[in-house]
Amino acid sequence: MTQYIFPADFVWGSATSSYQIEGAWNEDGKGESIWDRFAHTPGKIKDNSNGDVACDHYHRWPEDVQLIKSLGFNAYRFSVAWPRVFPDGRGAINPPGVDFYNRLVDGLLEAGITPYATLYHWDLPQALQDEGGWGNRATAEAFAEYADVVSRALGDRVKNWITINEPWCVSLLSHLIGAHAPGLHDGPLALRAAHHALLAHGLAVPVLRANSPGAEVAITLNYTHPTPATLAPAPTAAADYSATRLFDGFFNRWFFDPVHGRDYPADMVTYYTEQGFLPNGMQDFVQPGDMEIIAAPTDYLGVNYYTRDVIKAAPDGSGWASAPEAAPLERTDMDWEIYPDGLYSLLCRLHFDYQTPKIIITENGASYPDGPGPDGKVHDQKRIDYLRSHFAAVARARAAGAPVAGYFVWSLMDNFEWGEGYLQRFGTVWVDFETQARIPKESVLFVGEVMQANALDA
Ligand code: FCB
Repeated sequence: MTQYIFPADFVWGSATSSYQIEGAWNEDGKGESIWDRFAHTPGKIKDNSNGDVACDHYHRWPEDVQLIKSLGFNAYRFSVAWPRVFPDGRGAINPPGVDFYNRLVDGLLEAGITPYATLYHWDLPQALQDEGGWGNRATAEAFAEYADVVSRALGDRVKNWITINEPWCVSLLSHLIGAHAPGLHDGPLALRAAHHALLAHGLAVPVLRANSPGAEVAITLNYTHPTPATLAPAPTAAADYSATRLFDGFFNRWFFDPVHGRDYPADMVTYYTEQGFLPNGMQDFVQPGDMEIIAAPTDYLGVNYYTRDVIKAAPDGSGWASAPEAAPLERTDMDWEIYPDGLYSLLCRLHFDYQTPKIIITENGASYPDGPGPDGKVHDQKRIDYLRSHFAAVARARAAGAPVAGYFVWSLMDNFEWGEGYLQRFGTVWVDFETQARIPKESVLFVGEVMQANALDA
């Protein structure tokens, strides 16, 4: 048994996002978002559900704030729904939308919980989508306007800002793979969207600093640990290694490189050109000065980590393919392999390769099909095991020098898990979606003990 000690000022938090928990999708002047539109389109969500009600957090936030407090978290990461603030994406502000977040922030502060506000966790105003969405440079400019209004309203009290959550999901997952709103399959558009999401981040950084003196500003990137399927024999291993490097470029480097001031990775520009994703070249959407804007110094990097991807060369030799036959580890209900070493590697890679000055894990967690047992309790031992092994990975990376300053568990409570609907329960609090009852799972009691002790036995 090893005991890991966390520093006294380590941030322990719990995370959610607006569309996944709020509900009240059309109340108090809120505009339609791309997720409202997508989830209302038959066939897009596995269980044909939507976020119309979700956890009804819009109405139940006072009890949710008390819940967060009672569980012992000292920080809470939530997101602001852009269409609550600007129903049409820009122009006329909707004061009741702003007031909701004003009340939430006041409630958190009264409860002694530090708010971490994410400005964009995927619910783009549909009005902006109708004009071209993230494919348009104007959407990045509208984001800066939105960041200005929100930070003027909340910036005296919110001192921790995250601009964009997971630009890979905003762009490639949503515009190329089509699994998330707006559900498109267009490579060139996906790369434009990626650039504009990164640009939106960069444009918002100075705005947030101006309106929220002393604030810490960050972007959150998601990372999957790339593992080659074979390490031997040589010819297969070499091909799998190259494919893995390409996949790493697609998923990780395309985002991690520019925010660290490294420009877009040249090997990927070549690859995307060959794929026909850059019909007019990068200069079609990258304007002079953009890369400096994107690399605006931030106070830390937010990272979300869940799993790894085992990769082999595509059979036709043109790219990568996933290799489930070489991925034997235990999986969560999302069918994601449990691989805490990937979190350790990510944190070390950021520290030793990218020299990221400060890192906060803004999401990590696991979904399991849990529910209350005969004793009324939710015994989610597998989630406890998952969290324990990932906490240990954080501690090991810290011991190696990685400047990890905080950890947010995904998620506070079971919620609308995007394309999976309500089929995946990521919460550390169980939610009965019929009655909206909340039952803390055993895992959150475990997290509470770790937070209380600021130490972990593993
Ligand atoms: C992340 C999202 C978060 C949640 C988890 C499981 O990609 O940011 O909203 O869906 O995955």
